[in-house]
Amino acid sequence: MGHDPKRAVQSQFGRQAAWYTVSGVHKQSEGLTALLRMAAPGSRDHALDVATGTGFTALALAPGCREVIGVDFTAGMVREARSLQETRGVKNLLFCLGDAEALPFRDGSFDIVACRHAAHHFPHLSRALAEMARVAKSGGRVVLDDTCTPEDPDFAALMNEWERRRDRSHVANRPPSQLVDMLEDAGLRVAETAMSHVPLEFEDWVRRGGVAEPDAAALRESILGASPQAARAFRVESSGDELRFTWDEIILLGIKP
Ligand SMILES: C[S@@+](CC[C@H](N)C(=O)[O-])C[C@H]1O[C@@H](n2cnc3c(N)ncnc32)[C@H](O)[C@@H]1O
Repeated sequence: MGHDPKRAVQSQFGRQAAWYTVSGVHKQSEGLTALLRMAAPGSRDHALDVATGTGFTALALAPGCREVIGVDFTAGMVREARSLQETRGVKNLLFCLGDAEALPFRDGSFDIVACRHAAHHFPHLSRALAEMARVAKSGGRVVLDDTCTPEDPDFAALMNEWERRRDRSHVANRPPSQLVDMLEDAGLRVAETAMSHVPLEFEDWVRRGGVAEPDAAALRESILGASPQAARAFRVESSGDELRFTWDEIILLGIKP
């Protein structure tokens, strides 16, 4: 049977769910702060967090909203999200199973639709964006936050190659210009964009991906062997065993007309 990206996601995140609950990169970041600012939660707002994972974004939205729903199609991630919710005693939040590309909600249901650090896993991002636009109310805010490639196609290909070697469920990161076009094609007016970055440490990054030791060693070599231009683009730094690099991150606010 061929490679099924959705099954790959469920198997990848099903195995790695517990790592995400403790992952510093996902818990808090400059990008999440920008997402919350653009989402601008209000006490009467209904919000949807698409591909909620272990619920960090949904949990961050909940205190400002009337109600938040977090949807994800990996049962293990939703279980972790519910247990985190219980630990924190958050009441106005509901987690459910569902596919970003076929959201189980009526048209015009939400004031806020957020999607963070997940779009690069969707086999049909245009379809998922159309779904996010569909379930947003008129005037509603759709905030897309994801890692992105540089605009240079060679660097974009390299970043996607490294990510695929780390995580078989990776589909594609895209450059900022393409993401803006895709939001507009989904019928949203792009009102704001902000750039941030995700600093990564190699060992933590491959551990979260569940990469086997020989593959991790080859991937480390590939990153260390990148051209000086690519190393600059991804801010690759190494010292002894430590290897650090950085992905750019984009946060986009789309308004539904
Ligand atoms: C990195 S985690 C999400 C992080 C989370 N949004 C946060 O802010 O911490 C990526 C999630 O996307 C989910 N996912 C990927 N493709 C999906 C799809 N088509 N529908 C629903 N969830 C999906 C995975 O199950 C996984 O839980």
